[in-house]
Amino acid sequence: MRVAVYPGSFDPITNGHLDIIKRGAKVFDKVIVAVLVNVDKKYLFESNERVELIKRVTRDIGNVEIRSFDGLLVNFLKECKTNIILKGLRTASDFEYEFQMAFINNELDSNTETVCMMSSSKNIHISSSTVKQVAKFGGDISGLVPNEIISDIMSRINL
Ligand SMILES: Nc1ncnc2c1ncn2[C@@H]1O[C@H](COP(=O)(O)OP(=O)(O)OP(=O)(O)O)[C@@H](O)[C@H]1O
Ligand SMILES: [Mg+2]
Repeated sequence: MRVAVYPGSFDPITNGHLDIIKRGAKVFDKVIVAVLVNVDKKYLFESNERVELIKRVTRDIGNVEIRSFDGLLVNFLKECKTNIILKGLRTASDFEYEFQMAFINNELDSNTETVCMMSSSKNIHISSSTVKQVAKFGGDISGLVPNEIISDIMSRINL
């Protein structure tokens, strides 16, 4: 069984992330979405909330599992009994970052394979940061994130 781990902050999940998850689920037997718990970073949503939001928008996809992790990704891959990392690429700067991360992860475990999927053209401009920025200034975030989570984002931003 081919299992891919798709890591990220997902603070919150966007249409760009969801597209990679859906397409990844067609390519791999299972996609494990790995929500990064980083105690030093300030997030809009706690890791358990980020997990819950992703679960809500992926509940119709059978072969997707949502988990959180901290520490080294290569250790989490071992826990998941796989060597495959799934990533999404929007721009050249994403590429440069992922290229570097792939080498680091290979240095830590030479068995690691990073598989990158190109963003769909309709999602190239979407990131969690831009969603939060637009929401903060009262802009319309429908089209950027799944409809089911819009009210969660708006009420958290307006706290
Ligand atoms: N719109 C998108 N299309 C394709 N891949 C994406 C998109 N947004 C994020 N990704 C990919 O999803 C993974 C997780 O990304 P991450 O959690 O950093 O999201 P982000 O939207 O870039 O958030 P932030 O703005 O906080 O950096 C990365 O591989 C990233 O390149
Ligand atoms: Mg990012």
